[in-house]
Amino acid sequence: MEHVAANPWASLAYLIAGVCFILALRGLSSPTSSQRGNRFGMIGMTIAVVTTLLTHIPMGIDPDPSDYISDIPDIVTIAQILAAIAIGAVIGVVTARKIAMTAMPQLVAAFHSLVGLAAVLVAAAAFLNPAAFGIVDAAGAILPVSRVEMGLGVAIGAITFSGSVIAFLKLNGNMGGKPILLPGRHVINLAVLAGILGLIAYFTQDQSPWIFWTVTALSFVIGFLLIVPIGGADMPVVVSMLNSYSGWAAAAMGFTLHNSAMIITGALVGSSGAILSYIMCRAMNRSFISVIAGGFGGDTGGGSGEAKEQRPWKRGSAEDAAFLMSQAEQVIIVPGYGMAVAQAQHVLREMADKLKEHGVRVKYAIHPVAGRMPGHMNVLLAEANVPYDEVFELEDINSEFAQTDVAFIIGANDVVNPAAKTDKSSPIYGMPVFDVGKAKTVLFIKRSMGGVGYAGVDNDVFYADNTMMLLADAKKMVEEVVKSLD
Ligand code: TAP
Repeated sequence: MEHVAANPWASLAYLIAGVCFILALRGLSSPTSSQRGNRFGMIGMTIAVVTTLLTHIPMGIDPDPSDYISDIPDIVTIAQILAAIAIGAVIGVVTARKIAMTAMPQLVAAFHSLVGLAAVLVAAAAFLNPAAFGIVDAAGAILPVSRVEMGLGVAIGAITFSGSVIAFLKLNGNMGGKPILLPGRHVINLAVLAGILGLIAYFTQDQSPWIFWTVTALSFVIGFLLIVPIGGADMPVVVSMLNSYSGWAAAAMGFTLHNSAMIITGALVGSSGAILSYIMCRAMNRSFISVIAGGFGGDTGGGSGEAKEQRPWKRGSAEDAAFLMSQAEQVIIVPGYGMAVAQAQHVLREMADKLKEHGVRVKYAIHPVAGRMPGHMNVLLAEANVPYDEVFELEDINSEFAQTDVAFIIGANDVVNPAAKTDKSSPIYGMPVFDVGKAKTVLFIKRSMGGVGYAGVDNDVFYADNTMMLLADAKKMVEEVVKSLD
């Protein structure tokens, strides 16, 4: 295989692709620039793929070495590569168009599993035919440094694959979200991890196939063991962590393939995924280690939700809500997962427009883990053309509830649950939450009193004196409110 770094044009193209990826990440950090960020990502990926194809055009066997045409492109292999790209592109476009916004986390998990599998397959190909990858010494043995890259690539790739499959099954509802806790799991996990690292070290001395395949098998097993004990509530962190792993797997394989674009992209994905995991852990007030150690979201500490005792609560109607809000000076809207399920964002913006016509100041309060994926609410509100200057993050708006007439909660639950601050036994204890109860009136949309949020716990806000429950599908209820505001 040609050493791509030796081709200055390819190096330049990869550098440009790398810059595009950095600009893509930069753009994705804000809803206003996210489309531009996506475009940069697409341009960078096109440059990287085209450069790789052009610098690695497969050559066929020269049918007549005596003539002046020495190298003939291998048309069959090129056709196979283009067909594979076309099939992948069609699957990607169809999936992206069809997927419901609420199913995005499991889609991301599924895609990560493919990145992991790709890393395993590339490592296996390099192991089975190292000469084709230019990673052998004069005696035909695989270079020790390539063995380390290969070992790490296959291990991280296999962990990413099996871990992502479990994350997909949990998020998709094919597997219960509750953590599955095996006895002595920490000891088993540590032993397996130590075994993998020991074997990779030994692999530098002995390139016997059994070592490579044992590392692969153990890594598939540890990916499964690591993710199974993690409960559904921590899955977003897991998905982002697996995203990070997939980046490191790609970077490791970039070294084996001598492909600088893969190294740059892998490192960017690896580090951005790690930073995102850290930010999410902070938003849920959980330590990264406690997430990885698993067990969260199990049967321990059911919080106040276990005792579903009958407590008095007040029911309101759309007319009541319209009246209260039209009289308000300021309304803060807190959207959550239920808004996404009901697809109520467009009618919600209509409601906000109507309120503004009534002279009401409207703000949106977005919790970092509202919904089911990072930025879930921002994406939906942007889709409904909600002005960005009306959208505020938790730390910027939380102090305003005390001076607000109406907190309008639409499909949010955990992110407004005061148990996170008061009930040490609650599974969400420690998560920063909106102090919606401090508003003069709380209007709370959900479908039934029985339904609970993601963490499965009851919410004292339902029963507070200043709360009015608006029980209905979020979209239907807001449509009614809009009608009443006319
Ligand atoms: P949740 O706590 O999940 O609450 C959703 C609420 O929406 C429930 O009260 C539900 O009650 C209501 N609802 C569902 N469908 C509805 C509909 N069609 N119309 C009206 N209401 C509807 O939501 P949240 O406050 O956004 O909190 C997010 C939770 O998910 C957190 O615990 C977070 O840790 C977790 N999580 C977050 C992420 C990320 S990264 N954002 C990923 C995975 C998990 P009814 O059933 O009674 O309607």
